[in-house]
Amino acid sequence: MAPTLRIASGLLAAATAVSGASWIPSFMTKDVVIIGGGAGGGYAAVRLKEDFHKDIVVVEKASKLGGHVSTYTDPASGKSFDYGVQNFNNYGPAAAFFQRLGVSTGPAPPRIPLATQYADFTTGAQVNWTAPDAAARSAALATFLNVTAPWEDLFIPGWTNFPQPNQIPADLLLPFRDFVTKHNLHAIVNQVFQVTGSGAGNMMDALTLYVLSAFGQPMIKTFLGQLGALYTASGRNIEVYEKIGQRLGNAVLYNSVVTSSIRTSLFHTIFVKNQVTGKTTVIFTKKLLIAIQPTPANTEPLNLDVYEQSVLSKFNWQTVHAGLVSHPSLPINGSVVNMPAAAAPDNYLVLPTVDYNIRFDYFGQNLFRVLMVGDKNFSKAKAQQLIRNTVSKLIQAGTLPASTAQVQFPAWADHGPMHMHVTKQELQNGFIQKLNSLQGRRDTWWTGGAFSHQFQALIWAFNDLLLPQLVAA
Ligand SMILES: Cc1cc2nc3c(=O)[nH]c(=O)nc-3n(C[C@H](O)[C@H](O)[C@H](O)COP(=O)(O)OP(=O)(O)OC[C@H]3O[C@@H](n4cnc5c(N)ncnc54)[C@H](O)[C@@H]3O)c2cc1C
Ligand SMILES: *[C@@H]1O[C@H](CO)[C@@H](O)[C@H](O)[C@H]1NC(C)=O
Ligand SMILES: *[C@@H]1O[C@H](CO)[C@@H](O)[C@H](O)[C@H]1NC(C)=O
Ligand SMILES: *[C@@H]1O[C@H](CO)[C@@H](O)[C@H](O)[C@H]1NC(C)=O
Ligand SMILES: *[C@@H]1O[C@H](CO)[C@@H](O)[C@H](O)[C@H]1NC(C)=O
Repeated sequence: MAPTLRIASGLLAAATAVSGASWIPSFMTKDVVIIGGGAGGGYAAVRLKEDFHKDIVVVEKASKLGGHVSTYTDPASGKSFDYGVQNFNNYGPAAAFFQRLGVSTGPAPPRIPLATQYADFTTGAQVNWTAPDAAARSAALATFLNVTAPWEDLFIPGWTNFPQPNQIPADLLLPFRDFVTKHNLHAIVNQVFQVTGSGAGNMMDALTLYVLSAFGQPMIKTFLGQLGALYTASGRNIEVYEKIGQRLGNAVLYNSVVTSSIRTSLFHTIFVKNQVTGKTTVIFTKKLLIAIQPTPANTEPLNLDVYEQSVLSKFNWQTVHAGLVSHPSLPINGSVVNMPAAAAPDNYLVLPTVDYNIRFDYFGQNLFRVLMVGDKNFSKAKAQQLIRNTVSKLIQAGTLPASTAQVQFPAWADHGPMHMHVTKQELQNGFIQKLNSLQGRRDTWWTGGAFSHQFQALIWAFNDLLLPQLVAA
């Protein structure tokens, strides 16, 4: 630790000890402050603390670690339902990490077989959509694997090896619609969208690069049976982050956000406020690891300089919500899938456009999982209103039986900004190289979905590349 830092923190710690009052800030000095305790921050915290023997603290806004992992326990039955993260790709360090945490894995939880019906959620009317047959799907999946294989190392698990602007493969910059047409991948589009590709928003208009970020080689291999998935034996995916929380102990400041910061070349001073108790903690640290989505709102207290702002301000994103809803008209043991009328009977290039709910899936105990993707302004209120409107339309159109009951929302997660992306022009202006250049600049490192992809195990693998650099610097 820099001598200045040691003296400053010593004086301040003494001041706190003398005063003892709760409204007086606490002071601490750390090797690394990690902002955000989800996939990126939670994993990094364990490794920095236990493998690199760093004195760390995690600043986490929520009352739990784990970000997008949402486990709901039905009070009546005691049954748990994961309506956020479903499973973990058995990719890179994932299996070893489960073992290290003492999280037992098991087979995929038994799923109720769902009777699927298709309806246009903008009108409520049924849509006679015919799924591509199994042979066409597997052929398209194999082609998809083949065509995308040469690019895997360019941006998985992170963007470190991404080619210079004039060497980006042209296919990656095509709107996905054109890429599908070019390679005759129509039969796989719906599956890509239903599984994880919807994160790309208006998926057919999105750049192929970003569809592959949402559904790339690891997912293709999973579907071809070449890569496994890890399921918690407990059927509660939050167990992974509960165990991380236990290991980190008081190295996590829960319910806390950064309110402001001073970042200098000597050390950073991070002001943290607990949103429940109102207590302020002032942390002095040499290094900062930012593991939240780098939106203007999230980075506002982080004292970005002009260069950091100029890079990160190029990002656009989708907003994602997931929840468990119930309503007597929704079909027990059923799945009602959002399919635009124009997709009938087999126009596979047509998909819903934002803001949308992908489908209602029966999960058990009268609970239906919804998964919603919208633009930057897609608030929880808007998302829940869209669900209410959709249920009314499905009833009015006769797709669902009538009922005057209100939609209930027993569990809801506003996943906020996800799938950060930039335009083709920005990619051609060297955006990825600029993004990479932020790593280590101003003794600050960046992880999470925006620097890797929206998958737990990919972010963990990306951390394995990043953390040694952070430690060595
Ligand atoms: C519905 C859904 C289902 C998914 N299913 C899967 C799946 O089955 N398998 C899979 O591998 N991936 C899945 N993902 C994706 C995966 O969970 C994400 O890619 C991953 O969590 C992103 O990690 P992250 O660290 O970037 O962000 P997060 O995991 O979201 O972590 C960010 C953390 O920072 C905290 N935070 C936010 N803002 C602040 C702030 N200002 N100050 C302090 N803390 C803050 C948040 O509370 C959160 O804990 C799913 C995502 C969603 C939304
Ligand atoms: C739903 O499916 C389960 C079997 O998976 C069955 O036991 C149950 O009776 C079904 N319920 C309805 C309402 O169809
Ligand atoms: C769907 O197909 C069925 C049977 O072919 C037909 O009766 C029905 O009218 C069709 N519905 C629509 C909305 O086209
Ligand atoms: C992938 O495509 C190339 C070129 O069409 C072909 O030579 C190769 O055999 C294919 N590989 C696989 C695994 O299908
Ligand atoms: C989002 O809301 C802001 C104001 O809150 C508005 O300026 C902006 O145009 C909106 N964006 C979209 C995409 O609707």
